[in-house]
Amino acid sequence: MVIGMTAFSQEVIQAVLTHMNDDHNDDCLLIARAFGYPDATEAKMVGLDTNSGTWRVVNPAGEHQLRVEWPCGVISERAEIRREIVALYEEACKKTGTAPRGSETASSENPHAGGYSAPHGHHGGGNHGGAHHGHPGKKQPAPLPDDAPFSAVVRHRSWGFHSDSEGASFMADIMRGQAPLQDYIDLVAQHYYMYAALEEVTTLLAQEDATRPFISEELLRMSALEADLEHLIGDDWREKIAPVPAVTEYTNRIRKCGAEGYLPGIVAHHYTRYLGDLSGGQMIARRMRKQHGFEHAGVEFYEFNSIPDLDAFKNEYRANLDALGETLDAAGHERFLDEVRMAYEFNTAVFNDLAAVKAEAVTRATRRHATL
Ligand code: HEM
Repeated sequence: MVIGMTAFSQEVIQAVLTHMNDDHNDDCLLIARAFGYPDATEAKMVGLDTNSGTWRVVNPAGEHQLRVEWPCGVISERAEIRREIVALYEEACKKTGTAPRGSETASSENPHAGGYSAPHGHHGGGNHGGAHHGHPGKKQPAPLPDDAPFSAVVRHRSWGFHSDSEGASFMADIMRGQAPLQDYIDLVAQHYYMYAALEEVTTLLAQEDATRPFISEELLRMSALEADLEHLIGDDWREKIAPVPAVTEYTNRIRKCGAEGYLPGIVAHHYTRYLGDLSGGQMIARRMRKQHGFEHAGVEFYEFNSIPDLDAFKNEYRANLDALGETLDAAGHERFLDEVRMAYEFNTAVFNDLAAVKAEAVTRATRRHATL
């Protein structure tokens, strides 16, 4: 058995998502309202795996990610996806007091009469489910008020890309505790290259008043990464790690922002990584501590011991983003947002590269085994 592989191909997932969003958008909304966002105004299905479905939900407070576990537990067959979505829909009807469509949803014979069969996809191929990869005729997220602070705009308009990153199977498997320790080690090694570039260019932020506040000693991660890698791999870790192609492209981009003196661009990369480490990163660390028994060494990267209150720090960070936003015009805002989205896409690409390297290693091992 291969541990940590997702049971569904990208093509199947994409086909289900397209079908749900094109043909069952109202039902997505009903599920969102039933499972945590009673005031949802929009819901788009953005991911699924063997444990759960994921929706990007918009309500008056902004965009949210909603993950709902399949009612029957872990699934592995394509046909079970439909069954579980129907079950979720029926549960949502019960919770919201909505009359179910009856035979329409129950009928597996007639998948085009309102049911949830995954169409045999011509929709596959793309690996994005983000809010900004628009589809003609699809509603866009509800606009933020005109006076929304820049930090809220950034979060709101990049959240779909966050969902893509978080939902990449390599990452999702780690979070579900379904990945071997080696996956985590491989990820830490890629972080080493990312932060080497990021912390190198961060010093440039001292050049301007609006970007200087982002320089924070407490955030620096390189020594924690070195300690983690030594713990996870051994003294010779430097000879044993290598960048995947996407991390090389990512770090080239970060260094390019530095070389061009595009300071807001450096902040965009800084924001995407560090605010993530202070948020979802903490969940990853908890999962790794639980699964692999790390106490300190191995997850030092996620420990921000000189920040006593992470939420207060994040709020201060957002206030700095708001202040930076004040110094940029509309085009500057858009350019910043593009850089954030690009940063998310690079992170997703790193996960995908790591998954590919892993798949290749499994294939090689299987071939070796077969020739013995
Ligand atoms: C297992 C993977 C992940 C999980 C579970 C996760 C979860 C979360 C959660 C719950 C928040 C909201 C925290 C809050 O409101 O304070 C958040 C925020 C954030 N995450 Fe993630 N995340 C994951 C992966 C990533 C990745 C790969 C990146 C990019 C490198 C990232 C970047 C961010 C950023 C920048 C924020 C702050 C958004 C803002 O408030 O402006 N996350 N994450």
